[in-house]
Amino acid sequence: MASEAAPLIDGHDHGHACPVEVESAETTDGRLGAVLGAPRNGELAPLGVHGPWLATSLVQAKQVLTDAAGFDFPSTVTRGSDMSGSAGDTRSGHHVFAPLTPTQVGHGSSTFLTQWHEVVAAARTSPDGGVIDAMQALRRPMARATCGAALPGCSPGDRDLVADNVLGWIDALGPVISRRRDPGRWSRIRRHEARARHELEDTLARVLPGCGINDAAHVVATFLAAGVQVPIAAGAWLLVLLAAHPERGFEPEHVVWESLRVAPPTWITARITTGPVTLAGRQLAPGELVLVSPLLLGRSSELVPGDSSALGAFEPDRWRCEDVRPGAWLPFGAGAHACPGRTLGFRLLRDLATWALEHELTLTEPVKIDQSRGILPSPARLGFTSPTQ
Ligand code: HEM
Repeated sequence: MASEAAPLIDGHDHGHACPVEVESAETTDGRLGAVLGAPRNGELAPLGVHGPWLATSLVQAKQVLTDAAGFDFPSTVTRGSDMSGSAGDTRSGHHVFAPLTPTQVGHGSSTFLTQWHEVVAAARTSPDGGVIDAMQALRRPMARATCGAALPGCSPGDRDLVADNVLGWIDALGPVISRRRDPGRWSRIRRHEARARHELEDTLARVLPGCGINDAAHVVATFLAAGVQVPIAAGAWLLVLLAAHPERGFEPEHVVWESLRVAPPTWITARITTGPVTLAGRQLAPGELVLVSPLLLGRSSELVPGDSSALGAFEPDRWRCEDVRPGAWLPFGAGAHACPGRTLGFRLLRDLATWALEHELTLTEPVKIDQSRGILPSPARLGFTSPTQ
């Protein structure tokens, strides 16, 4: 974590005596700092004496993510820094998920909006009076939206039960993922995680046949976990970054691209070489770890319009420039294992951005970057008022 004195993304004063600040990735240490500090000279960057290697250009990143024969997934979902692995240890055992259809996305969006407005209405009348913890507030709306989209034939009661089980599994996975060392199979946190996973898989095994879904429960469980955990973090970053920028008039889509660029929750993903591979002119031996970082690629002046000396800044209007394609920095990955929920994820974030742009948001506390599991805003407490209030 950065020191107290580290520079910050923002320092806007929302009528508070002191500006409320959001820690900037550019000044953070830990793994994030090491990745952003790597030389970007077009070569593969070694992050340690024996690797891992960091892809520093789009060409390298695409090779790593799309050359399925040369690069494999290194571990199971339970020890990855993101939620995007599936039950198999190797690519050959790794399920390829079908993308969601537009009907499923529409269903997820309407579920999200209903649930989000309920959360907002409850927060307005709570003792805190319109203050939310975004990481908490987004849990049920995102979980129910993703479950509603992925299991469209499911009754609302079953959908909500599955959503709660997914949240239970994600919560139990947190301590497993954030541990520096792999906790033993029989450790308390592993056993808790296994119980939560089995609870979800048992519910799915009962519910899936009635929804007309033939996939195995563990495959659907992985899909749902990836589709809940990341959108909660992405939505919380979006709200935090907008709260730190009181100016309005942005396009919701631009806000979504820009918050995914400045703070992509799946900020890094890893692959392992399956045999001798040449990457950026360097010969890699089998078993070498190679990292791809959408956060790093999102700081490339070739992929992002605007002032190249200030690519850490949150400026949604940079996407008014139509010459540069948004999303070129791979916020949803690439290749066969690119995000199958990207259209739903984008739509939910756009729905959230549309709501947020109609409100005045105020951070109540400085926000730090929690690197324990992807990147999360911590705490993400903010007040909101609508223009009519
Ligand atoms: C809101 C924004 C989202 C972002 C930024 C995001 C980002 C990503 C990224 C970068 C990957 C690729 C990771 C890798 O290559 O190792 C990925 C994979 C995945 N995502 Fe998303 N995602 C989002 C939403 C969703 C949603 C809504 C779902 C499901 C409904 C979902 C399901 C998955 C799954 C199942 C994978 C694994 C794909 C595979 O390994 O074949 N994601 N996501």
